[in-house]
Amino acid sequence: MITKYQSFQQLFKRLATFHPGRRLLSARYQSSINVENLHAEQVHMEQHDLAEKPRILVTGSLGQLGTGLARVLREKYGTENLIMTDIIRPPKEVIESGPYRYADILDFKNLQELVVNCRIDWLIHFSALLSAIGEANIPLAMRVNIEGLHNVLELSRQYDLKLFVPSTIGAFGKTSPRNPTPDLTIQRPRTIYGVSKVHAELMGEYYHHRFGLDFRSLRFPGIISADTPPGGGTTDYACQVFWDALTTGRHECYLRPDTRLPMMYIDDCLRSVVEFMEVPDEQLKLRTYNIHAMSFTPEEIVEEVRKYVPHLEVKYKPDSRQEIADSWPMVFDDANARRDWNWNHEYDLSGLVKVMIEHLAKRFDKPLSMKQHHY
Ligand SMILES: NC(=O)c1ccc[n+]([C@@H]2O[C@H](COP(=O)([O-])OP(=O)(O)OC[C@H]3O[C@@H](n4cnc5c(N)ncnc54)[C@H](O)[C@@H]3O)[C@@H](O)[C@H]2O)c1
Repeated sequence: MITKYQSFQQLFKRLATFHPGRRLLSARYQSSINVENLHAEQVHMEQHDLAEKPRILVTGSLGQLGTGLARVLREKYGTENLIMTDIIRPPKEVIESGPYRYADILDFKNLQELVVNCRIDWLIHFSALLSAIGEANIPLAMRVNIEGLHNVLELSRQYDLKLFVPSTIGAFGKTSPRNPTPDLTIQRPRTIYGVSKVHAELMGEYYHHRFGLDFRSLRFPGIISADTPPGGGTTDYACQVFWDALTTGRHECYLRPDTRLPMMYIDDCLRSVVEFMEVPDEQLKLRTYNIHAMSFTPEEIVEEVRKYVPHLEVKYKPDSRQEIADSWPMVFDDANARRDWNWNHEYDLSGLVKVMIEHLAKRFDKPLSMKQHHY
């Protein structure tokens, strides 16, 4: 009957932590309690544990966003409750940081096995081919971004998982209002990435209405981080400019200097996922929300970076990514997220540049002691 807890003594100890207000450990009570009641308590306790600490699987977790999200979620829910997965060979520090498994998003059986064996409650689906990479390999993008999504939707339906799938500014197109872009508007993107993300938003909403699936999605702006290199998106220049500023002092930008796009610092992005996943279902009026933090052009961020690295040289050489950027929102309207679940960003442009320079200066071992820094 008592499986997980080897002895009554162990179980009593655990129940006492679970019900600290109840005097379960009094000797008289211990001797009179019956095994059936104990078993019921144990089941109830395990359900409570689960409800308090979800077991989470992150797909594509070795990308720009996944590693940081795994760290944040592990701090909150416990290391063992977060399973990182991807198809690439993980660095040593990932293996040492907690559970990591191979999982190809196209292999339904393997995913099913993981969900069952690891008793997963939440699935965070980060595997994707991003905008620029997707255009360079359309058949693979269709498989990973569309077939992969079908797999996680079906798994989540079958095992009643809470499912998070990020969307993007790339889910809009030239015919959408661009400044600002509201949640509900025309969505006619012209990249395979954008089309697959609109597909994900609509399929998730369909599964929600048809099967009651707890599907949640946030449309992220371009995300800027110092931890991992960006994964082939159109907003990558806004990460690269910091690396270049602190290494060669020269940056070649593939967008025109006046190209305005919405952006966000990674800490705000990761916090948005954690906060959004915890909002009670009935509080959400939409299944997909825009979230916004700041909006800038290459020349505006370069001006801000030059406050720390005045000698930074920049050349502008627009390539195929310019056309993609020209079809994307310039500013996101995220009033619904702010109203429905209190979304708020912390980092604006000057806060972002300060924290990125601090992080990378530490990494490249460059001292930051003066007001202006000459590298
Ligand atoms: N980074 C951004 O600026 C940004 C902005 C908006 C939305 N998003 C979304 O956030 C999510 C994560 O983005 P990211 O920047 O970390 O992407 P990334 O490209 O850095 O990482 C994606 C990961 O998916 C993995 N992957 C590829 N094929 C796979 C397969 N068949 N099975 C399993 N994994 C596979 C890759 O190995 C990679 O580690 C994506 O869905 C992306 O669309 C990102």
